[in-house]
Amino acid sequence: MSAVTRAGFDVMRIREDFPILSQVPYGKPLVYLDNAATAQKPRAVIDATSRFYAEEYANVNRGVHYLSEQATVIYDQARETVARFINADAEEIIFTRGTTDAINLVAASWGKRIRPDDEILITEMEHHSNIVPWQLLCEERGAHLQVAPITRAGELDLDAFDAMISERTKLVSVAHISNVLGTINPIREIIRLAHAKSVPVLVDGAQSAPHMAIDVQTLDCEFYAFSGHKLFGPTGIGVLYAKRAMLEEMPPYQGGGDMIVSVSFDKSTYKSGPGRFEAGTPNIAGVVGLGEAIRYVDKIGLDQIGEHENQLLQYATKKLSLIPGLKIVGNAKRKASVISFVVEGVHPHDVGTVLDREGIAVRAGHHCAQPLMRVMGVPATLRASFAFYNTKGEIDVLVGGLDKVRELFS
Ligand code: ALA
Repeated sequence: MSAVTRAGFDVMRIREDFPILSQVPYGKPLVYLDNAATAQKPRAVIDATSRFYAEEYANVNRGVHYLSEQATVIYDQARETVARFINADAEEIIFTRGTTDAINLVAASWGKRIRPDDEILITEMEHHSNIVPWQLLCEERGAHLQVAPITRAGELDLDAFDAMISERTKLVSVAHISNVLGTINPIREIIRLAHAKSVPVLVDGAQSAPHMAIDVQTLDCEFYAFSGHKLFGPTGIGVLYAKRAMLEEMPPYQGGGDMIVSVSFDKSTYKSGPGRFEAGTPNIAGVVGLGEAIRYVDKIGLDQIGEHENQLLQYATKKLSLIPGLKIVGNAKRKASVISFVVEGVHPHDVGTVLDREGIAVRAGHHCAQPLMRVMGVPATLRASFAFYNTKGEIDVLVGGLDKVRELFS
C-alpha cells in the first residue's frame, strides 16, 4: 500500500514512493536537499507518464480516432485537476513550459498595453525569471522597472513597496516565496495594497505551490504562475492562472495550430480562453504527469506537508546556527523550508563539492538571483531546501558534512 493512502504522515513510508531516494552516489546514501531547484518524482508520476506513452498516447484536440479522443479526455481532466488544486476554473488555466514561460507569456501578451513611462513594480528578492522578462518589456516599450526594497532580515519593506505604487504602475509582479531566502511574502497584503490603487498582480508561485495550499480566489491575484517539476511532476510543464477578465483582453502569445478558430491568408481569428495561448502540440505527457503529481500531493495533504517541512526548517535552523562560522542568509519571520547560508572563509562551491562527496545534494551559487546576492552582500550562498520526503536524520548528515568542511578548510 502506498504511504499516501494511509492515515497520518509516515515519512519513511513516503520515501518508498520515490525510487531515486535509494540511490547511493559515491557509495553514500543520497541526501537530496535541492528541492527548490527541482523535486524528485514519486512512482505514481513515473508510472502515469509511462502508461500514457505505452497505452494512451495520441495528439489532443485534433483526431477523430479512439486514442486521440481518449488522450483529449485525459488532458482535459488534468486541466480540471490543476484548476481544483488552486481553486480556479479550468477556463483560467493555461499550460506553459514552466513558471518562466508563464511570466514571459504575460509580458509578451498582456504587456502589449504597456506605454512609455509606465512602470512595472517587482521586489529585490525576485528570481531572474521575474526580472528579465520585465526588463525586456520595459526596453521594448520605453517603460521603467521599479524595485521595492527588502530589509536585512530578507522581508519585503511593505511601507516602501506601498509608496512605490503610483499612477504609473501598471503591474506588480512578486514571488510568493523567495527561492533564496525562503521568505514567505505577505501576499494577500501585497495584493490588497496593489488593488487599492487598481494595479493588477502577478504572483510567481514557483516555490509556493509545492509547499502550501493556494487559493487564487481568496488571493484575488490576476495571475499566478508555477512549475510542474518543483511540484513532483515532469519538467517542461507549468501553469499560468489568469483571471478570465484578463484572458479576454490578452492577444495571442504564439501563433500556430490549435489556437485558432479560422485561418485565411487575409485574416485569422483566435480561440478564447486558454486555448488561445496553447499553440502547437502541447506537452501532453507533461500535463498527464502534472495531474498525477497533484493527485499525489493532495492525497498526502498540503497541511501535513507544511507541518512536516516546518519541523525540518526549525530543526535545521537550530542545528546550522550552532556551527561556528556559518551564517544563515535570510531570517524572515515567516519562512518556507529553504535555508541559504555561507561558511566563513570557504567559497560556497567548495562547500558544495565536499558535501557532494558525502552524498549530499545542495545548491551552491547565485540561485538565479544575482541582484539579491548583491543586496544581501554575498557573492553566492549554499542552499538546502527540504521537501516532505526529507528527514531530520538527513539534516544531521548535512551537519556532519559541514563539520567535515570545517576540518578540511581550518
Ligand atoms: N529556480 C530554481 C532554483 O531556485 C532553479 O534553484
